Amino acid sequence: MKNFAPALAFASIISLVNAHGFVTSPEARQPGTAMGAACGQQVQSNQDSDKYGNIQGELQVASSQNDYKAAECDIWLCKGYKFADNKDNVQSYKAGQKVPFKVDIRAPHTGVANVSVVATSSNKVIGAPLISWDVYASTATGVKPDETDFSVTIPDDLGSQCATAGDCVLQWYWYAESIDQTYESCVDFTVGGSGSAPAASSASSASSTSSATEIAVTTTPSGAVQTPTAAAQPTTFATTARASATSAAAQVPTSSAEPSASASGLPFSTSNASDVLSWFEALLGNLVGN
Ligand SMILES: *[C@@H]1O[C@H](CO)[C@@H](O)[C@H](O)[C@H]1NC(C)=O
Ligand SMILES: *[C@@H]1O[C@H](CO)[C@@H](O)[C@H](O)[C@H]1NC(C)=O
Repeated sequence: MKNFAPALAFASIISLVNAHGFVTSPEARQPGTAMGAACGQQVQSNQDSDKYGNIQGELQVASSQNDYKAAECDIWLCKGYKFADNKDNVQSYKAGQKVPFKVDIRAPHTGVANVSVVATSSNKVIGAPLISWDVYASTATGVKPDETDFSVTIPDDLGSQCATAGDCVLQWYWYAESIDQTYESCVDFTVGGSGSAPAASSASSASSTSSATEIAVTTTPSGAVQTPTAAAQPTTFATTARASATSAAAQVPTSSAEPSASASGLPFSTSNASDVLSWFEALLGNLVGN
């Protein structure tokens, strides 16, 4: 029984750690000054320093800021990231095109996820999700390869709804329900208007796949052990994380951690809580993923 209490303590720390994720390919919307003007400077700098963060975290920052304009920020769409900051980053797709996605999940937490075409004017999903997961980034099993490396098929029934840059995004949406954290990444794209179904290819249209058949629904039995969590005070958490990171580093072979030249053996300055937190999350991600 001696080892039981530390194990429990460790498990409860895991449950306090934020999940973390972002789409790395295709290049997704980034935070910028238009976002700052709508969502507030602090919310922008929060995302500048950690675009893997969640919407609830942004809202926590926003709650004390006078320059947060909820309607303009529209934070549940693309985490408030704006097309105006990303005009030079618009993908041009064809109906029926397969688009490979890469997601970087730095810290898993069991939830649900999907990628959908979203109309930015209304923040409404157009049609059905292109892909969805009933269990995503499970803390129990670790992140599965097909959750971070997959492709979606651009629907062939969008008409001209997504012909203009800024009107539509492919939104990756992950809700880690056990900790109430929502993550989004948006890929701006256009798909040609009424002229987009090229006459030349109509002969081969019989071979084009229906988008419905492309929807991969991964139903994994959910064995996730989910510890109910209370929100930790940031200061308390940073302190806890630091102490634990040190002891974890002492007990766990750090082959998964970045090499370090520092005297402490930790790959960050221990005076920077943000670095400590990032490293600790990465370590947990690796431990849980193994
Ligand atoms: C799919 O994503 C949208 C946001 O793009 C979200 O509103 C919806 O709840 C998600 N559906 C599921 C089943 O996760
Ligand atoms: C801590 O590190 C983060 C990420 O490396 C950096 O953005 C931040 O400015 C640093 N904070 C301090 C106080 O050095």
